Amino acid sequence: MDSFEKVAILAARKAGLLLKRGLGQKRRVGYKGAVNLVTEMDLLSEKVIVSEIRKRYPNHSLLAEEKTRVLESSPYRWIIDPLDGTTNYAHGFPIFSVSIALEKQGKVILGVVYDPTREELFVANEGKGARLNGRKIHVSSTPALSKSLLATGFPYDLRESPVDNFDHFRNFALRVHAVRRAGSAALDLCYVAAGRFDGFWEMKLGPWDFAAGSLMVREAGGEITDFLGKRLDLDGKHVLASNGRIHRQMIKILKMGRF
Ligand code: IPD
Ligand code: CA
Ligand code: CA
Repeated sequence: MDSFEKVAILAARKAGLLLKRGLGQKRRVGYKGAVNLVTEMDLLSEKVIVSEIRKRYPNHSLLAEEKTRVLESSPYRWIIDPLDGTTNYAHGFPIFSVSIALEKQGKVILGVVYDPTREELFVANEGKGARLNGRKIHVSSTPALSKSLLATGFPYDLRESPVDNFDHFRNFALRVHAVRRAGSAALDLCYVAAGRFDGFWEMKLGPWDFAAGSLMVREAGGEITDFLGKRLDLDGKHVLASNGRIHRQMIKILKMGRF
């Protein structure tokens, strides 16, 4: 294990433990939008992760969802979602994760996603595969959309924007086994990587939501692009991930809706 990986795992476990211990307690909830919540635990988790990383790599750049924007001249940048699934967390619904990615010259080379509730640690290294608790994972081999289990999420600007994902949800739900909306995009992507979901789509995501998960999917043999099948940059917002086999079928359905 290289030291980047060690540090990312240490930080993810430390933050995850803190989140797990605090689950179900009364939270101070702030609003970044009508239904976009932030709790004191998002901030605390970010503080823990950022301090673990900065302690060892003071010259690296950092981008974390809530507060941290550090721009250095280093080729390395850490991209962090300190609590992915805040709405679940604030309600005591135990599906959430910590997501940490390391980018080198614009390319994600390491992804760590930790689910403290189930004690599942997902790790992907560029060119070296993806692992769940140390064991290699692979995307599913489901060949047809009609036999698929998919995941998605809905954007926070639902009440203001007509581009709301309901049309895509309906279009997919009528053609697959089922569509789940669990509430942590980072975990959704890890579940695609582990073959638990066959595909995932979501619009208007931030880089912290999918940086680590995108490498997980690729390294597990899957495909991740924008809704049209084009290369996905970290500043791209519409994310389509799949086992590869149903990717074209998913693009066809997405093209029927708005985005
Ligand atoms: C959210 C979760 C959710 C997704 C939202 C994200 P947050 O992240 O990943 O599943 O549907 O689009 O913003 O706000 O809990 O970090
Ligand atoms: Ca998130
Ligand atoms: Ca978050």
